[in-house]
Formats: sequence, C-alpha cells, structure tokens
Amino acid sequence: MNQNGKNNEDINYRPFVFGIEKIDAEHQRLIGIFNCLNEKAAKNESADFKQIVEELEEYSCYHFNTEETLMEKANFDEIEEHIYQHQIFRQKINDFKTSILFGGSTLETDMVNFLRKWLLKHIAEVDAKYVPSIKKYLNQEKTN
Ligand SMILES: [Fe+2]
Ligand SMILES: [Fe+2]
Repeated sequence: MNQNGKNNEDINYRPFVFGIEKIDAEHQRLIGIFNCLNEKAAKNESADFKQIVEELEEYSCYHFNTEETLMEKANFDEIEEHIYQHQIFRQKINDFKTSILFGGSTLETDMVNFLRKWLLKHIAEVDAKYVPSIKKYLNQEKTN
C-alpha cells in the first residue's frame, strides 16, 4: 500500500531469493512480467495488457513445471498441496483472460491486485517450504 492508500506497487524480487539459481532466476523473470503488467494497467494500455497476460500465463506454466519436477525429484512431502495451488492459479488466470475479453480496465486492476497478492503469498509461504528439500537434493546431485 502506498501513501495514497492505493496498492499499485511493483514487486521487488530480492526479498525472495532462495539461493537456488534456476528458481531465483525464474522468480525474477515472473515478477518482471508482473511489474510490466502492472505498468500497462496503470497506463490503461489494454492491448499490451492482454499480450502480457499471455506471456505471464505461459511463463508461469513453465516455472510451475520447473518447481514440480524439482519437488518430485527431491521427494518433497507437500508436493500435492503445492501442485494444487498451482492449478488454482492456472484456473484463475484462465477465468481472468475470459472476463477481460468482455470487460474493461476495472477487471485489469482486479487482475493485477489478485496477481500481486497471490505471487507475494505463494513465493513467501508456499514456495519457501520446498527450499530445504530441494537444496538438499541439489547438493546430493552435485556430490554424486
Ligand atoms: Fe515459484
Ligand atoms: Fe510454486
């Protein structure tokens, strides 16, 4: 929330660096796409907005796939709940995409606000849980 009580801030990826190279790079990129979307919504650039939603959808699928593969290899015990959270997100993006075709800038603001909250919470609370398991797995890979 900024001083005007408006929540239109960009996300800074730095507080979420886990020390897992591939995942950190993907989070940085994902957040970069979000920040771009945030800017387009603020400027009411709807055509660009729609295009970046597509990019975000595509890249989040790619990233979820990275995480799901690593969690599986690392035998992470909360993998099912995590995959379920990714599925909810995929569904939500899909619903937004459909409504944005028929709606206007209010929907874009709603979408950006949803995405900001979801990304921050998901990375900080859900992704953070797999860090010890995946680090352990990657270390074992290195020494083998
Ligand atoms: Fe993630
Ligand atoms: Fe995740």
